[in-house]
Amino acid sequence: MLLFRLRTTMLLAAVCLFVASGVSTETVTTCVDADNPHHLECENGVISVQSALYGRTNNVICSEGRPPQEFNNTGCSQSGTGNFVKNRCNGKKVCEISTNDVISPDPCFGTYKYLQTNFTCVPAIHLIACEHSYAHLNCDQGQVISVIGAHYGRDNKAVCFASRPPSQVENVYCSNPTQVAQSCNGKNSCTIKASNSVFGDPCYGTFKYLELSYVCEYPSKLPPSKIIVKET
Ligand SMILES: *[C@@H]1O[C@H](CO)[C@@H](O)[C@H](O)[C@H]1NC(C)=O
Ligand SMILES: *[C@@H]1O[C@H](CO)[C@@H](O)[C@H](O)[C@H]1NC(C)=O
Repeated sequence: MLLFRLRTTMLLAAVCLFVASGVSTETVTTCVDADNPHHLECENGVISVQSALYGRTNNVICSEGRPPQEFNNTGCSQSGTGNFVKNRCNGKKVCEISTNDVISPDPCFGTYKYLQTNFTCVPAIHLIACEHSYAHLNCDQGQVISVIGAHYGRDNKAVCFASRPPSQVENVYCSNPTQVAQSCNGKNSCTIKASNSVFGDPCYGTFKYLELSYVCEYPSKLPPSKIIVKET
């Protein structure tokens, strides 16, 4: 009986460990002239991009049916792609990037390129505030807000569409990353109005929304700049 209990406990412990470390990295690769956009999606949690590459560092990926000279250059990457994809996708549940968006300038003319992103799905509070309404960010006592990502605009027809004419919801290529929400970082609660007066107007005539993800954390005792490094 004791042995049985022990085994059950160990099994539970193993399951918990798996859940705790269950943030696995996913890789999505899209050949540059693919019909489908680069599509990142989290069933649970929100996207947190680790790294992204536009170019070619591998001679197997996206090589099928191409002449060798289009994939034998494996030293090609566009700088800034990581930050570009982080800005576009961090904090979202679904994120699509057309490979056209990252094409210029061409980092290696004549080479057949791909866009590859490594990301994890991290647990977070995910909220949407339709234009003119307010997003309320709240943490438990003693905890503070840390924004993972925020976007103002529209990338989905089926969000904030009630009683709106089609013309106001059909533009789904208007999702602007915004740093404004970072002003909530370090606060216990925070309210942001989803409006052009706060974020500017990225697409006139479209009814927009604020999509925002954040986590609640215990504040670190000392800000990084004040950590004293002991000299040895
Ligand atoms: C993604 O992860 C894989 C496996 O670790 C690695 O081979 C690849 O280079 C990574 N891609 C990027 C864009 O960092
Ligand atoms: C790729 O192949 C072409 C044609 O065979 C050759 O001219 C070129 O030097 C090769 N490039 C690399 C990086 O190997």
